[in-house]
Amino acid sequence: ALAAVSGGPLDGLHVAVSTGGTREPLDPVRFLGNRSSGRQGAEVALDAARRGATVTLVAASVDAGVLDGVAAHPRVTIVNVETAAQLGEAMGTAAASADVVVMVAAVADYRAASVSESKLRKEDGPLDSIALVPNDDILAGLAAARRPGQTVVGFAAETADDDLLERARRKRERKGADLLVVNEVGWDTGFGAGGNTIAVIGADGAVVAEATGSKAVVARAVWDAITAVRGIR
Ligand code: CTP
Ligand code: CA
Repeated sequence: ALAAVSGGPLDGLHVAVSTGGTREPLDPVRFLGNRSSGRQGAEVALDAARRGATVTLVAASVDAGVLDGVAAHPRVTIVNVETAAQLGEAMGTAAASADVVVMVAAVADYRAASVSESKLRKEDGPLDSIALVPNDDILAGLAAARRPGQTVVGFAAETADDDLLERARRKRERKGADLLVVNEVGWDTGFGAGGNTIAVIGADGAVVAEATGSKAVVARAVWDAITAVRGIR
């Protein structure tokens, strides 16, 4: 059921957020996956709900307990998915009525060209390669299908190097997103302990926001940047 309006700045807005990491099956018991915990996307969804938005959170194989806090919020609906294709489908449905779309999920770039109906067994012979095919770019698809007034936001975790920002700018442009949040891992903070450092790239390639801190702090900075580009105070 829809909770009463909160009186927050995002009152009346529908927000669609993806989080976690997709799993691409190889056979009934195995998958290709990644280490994304889903924590950052859960914080992004929770902060939007706290600001008054109605939130659809599409969650792909998040770590245990990560959704506990956000699931308890009355304005959040969680849709659990596993594969990139399922995530794309669920985000497409949510985006059809969303004012803001935020793709935090780590989407597998590839899936197995064919999924074995039965378990792959060593006795069937040595397996020396797995044929892969590329998955659709969900963010690029959502941005291309953007509704009037809809804001589309992507996330990118980039390893540090000299042209990190330049690569992030190209990535935002390639995908057609309004904003790209770059996780500056290895820039001036170490992995893990120090928390997260992000920069938000805007439509002209400029850095419109920067933040360092916990995933909750980063989530707040991301919503500050989104509300700023949408002209909400
Ligand atoms: N993304 C997506 N669909 C994909 C791959 C990525 O929607 N098939 C989204 C992610 O959710 C994220 C953004 O695109 O919001 C950036 O993801 P990233 O993996 O950095 O982009 P790629 O284009 O896959 O580039 P790379 O080769 O660096 O992995
Ligand atoms: Ca990728």
